[in-house]
This record gives sequence, C-alpha cells and structure tokens, in this order.
Amino acid sequence: MDKPFIFITRNIPEKFVEPLRVVAEVEMWHSEEDPVPHDVLTEKAKKAHGLLTVLSDRVDEELLKEATNLKVIANLAVGFDNIDIQAATKRQIYVCNTPDVLSDTTADLAMTLLMTTARNILEASAHIKENKWTSWSPYLLAGRDIHHKTLGIVGMGKIGEVLAKRAAGFDMNILYHNRSRNEQAESKLPVTYASMDDVLEKSDFVVCLTPLTKQTENMFNEEAFKKMKKSAMFINVSRGDVVDEAALLKALNEEEIAAAGLDVFVNEPIDGSHPLAMHPKVVALPHIGSATVETRTSMIKLAVQNIEAVLAGHFPSTIINR
Ligand code: DGY
Repeated sequence: MDKPFIFITRNIPEKFVEPLRVVAEVEMWHSEEDPVPHDVLTEKAKKAHGLLTVLSDRVDEELLKEATNLKVIANLAVGFDNIDIQAATKRQIYVCNTPDVLSDTTADLAMTLLMTTARNILEASAHIKENKWTSWSPYLLAGRDIHHKTLGIVGMGKIGEVLAKRAAGFDMNILYHNRSRNEQAESKLPVTYASMDDVLEKSDFVVCLTPLTKQTENMFNEEAFKKMKKSAMFINVSRGDVVDEAALLKALNEEEIAAAGLDVFVNEPIDGSHPLAMHPKVVALPHIGSATVETRTSMIKLAVQNIEAVLAGHFPSTIINR
C-alpha cells in the first residue's frame, strides 16, 4: 500500500521531519522567504493526508473540497483564523494548533513591546547609533512609567494569564475583558474583570490578545480609540484584523492615543513604507510573538506529533474541532 502523503508548507529542520518520513512520504516547501502559492498548496492538498501549515497559509473551502484524502491540518500557531474550521469539520478533518508551548514566549514579547513603546527604546538606541548623544538632559528620551500603571488586557486566555503574571511583578493594576469571565485567572492572579468600555477608558496600556473571529474583527475602531486615554498606548500581539488600521492611524495623528506597539498587521508582511511602520509613534515588529528558537522548536515538534498521531489512528493532542 502507498504511504500517506504529508505536505509541509515551510522549510523546517530535517531532524524534526524524520519521524514522519518513517510512516509517510513527506514533501516540504523549500523557500525560507516565499510562502507557498495558494494554487500550489491546493494542488498538494488534493493528494495529501496531512498538511503542516503556517498562519499565512489560507486553507479555505475551495482547497478543502478538493482535498479528499486529507485527515489532519496541523497549524504552526495558536491562532487558526487562516483555516475554514467549519469546512474542515464537515469533512471530518482534524485541525490542530500549538497552544500552551508558546504562551510564555508570546507573553514575554507582549511585555517587551509594551516596555519598548513606553520607554522609547528604539529611539534611544538610534540616538547613539546616529551619533546624536551630545549631553545628558532631564527629559532626554523620557518615556512613560510602566510600574503602578493600569494594564487592560483584551482577551484573557493562556497568554493573557502569563502576561498578567508578568505585569503583577511590575506592580501594575490589571483589568481584563474577555468573552466571559476567566474565574481561574481571577483565583490565582490580581486581575479584575471589566467591561470593554472600562478597559478602554481606564487603562494606560491596552494589550490586545484576543483571537480573530467575526466578533473581534475591527473591534479596535475609531470609537474604541476615542474612548482610550490620550496618554494610552495600544499594543497588539493578536491579529492585524482586530484593528481598523485607518482608525488607528487617525487616532495616532490626532493624538487620541499616545503610541502603539504592533506585532501584527492586516496584510502581512508589510514593508517600511507602510504608514504604521513609518509612524514616529509606532513600534512595529514582523509578527514575532512566539519567535524564539526554543518555542518554535516546541511548536514544530507538537505539530509533527499531531500528524503522526492521526496517521497512527489516534486523536491528536491539541485539536480545535473535535
Ligand atoms: C500564533 O501562534 O498564533 C502567533 O501569532 C504566532 O506568533
């Protein structure tokens, strides 16, 4: 009998693919920079039993209806908004993500981005590299305090909980908003549930960690930015589409908010000419929330294990659509 076919949409180290090669024919997209074109992915999916995808691969109904052998899609991310879950479920295809293993690392990045934005770290570093440091002066590159300020977390899932733990160490006052109250978080962390309006109106830092869904799409719009303090900083480590980017630019230009730290954008990748990347009050990062060697390795291992489990007739360990 022919071996099952697995298609991996990014170049990942061969040592992690080896266990799959024992039981399957494995093909990997070899370019580091160029994502696999959608028509190529659709072609590969037609014969694939498993796909290992990344968050920029669109796995839509059109692709899935041709993927008649497909049993499992292992997405290398905790988010899965790039996959049509309903269409996959209808066809009894398991969709798996990589939760937990990236929570600490992504919360670290959220805190880093918040601090970089608040303390003008990029400008301060450029100040030296561009030979601008001529003297000490009282307000030279003065940022804003983080300690004892109010942090508003929108989306209190696992990453939100770890971020709250970090923020508690900075003596921050922590509010959160979520679809529903997270009583487990409240029992172990100094966090207070608040309405979305309260989070927007009272926070010095609003950090968005919510998944992208129909309900959260464009939730940070003109109205939301108007409710925020003029001194507030907006940090987004979730998905670009939760933000109306035109409204964010307007809020920054009209000084409705003070600054933004963005790891995610509506159309990724962006380049240096993107108005948000060019904006002096924006710290822009290229979607590196979970990007450490340790965490990306754990994510790859988990995704591979999930495919192996399905090929062996077992449940994968992190299924979204069981
Ligand atoms: C995820 O896993 O969804 C993150 O956005 C990756 O950095």
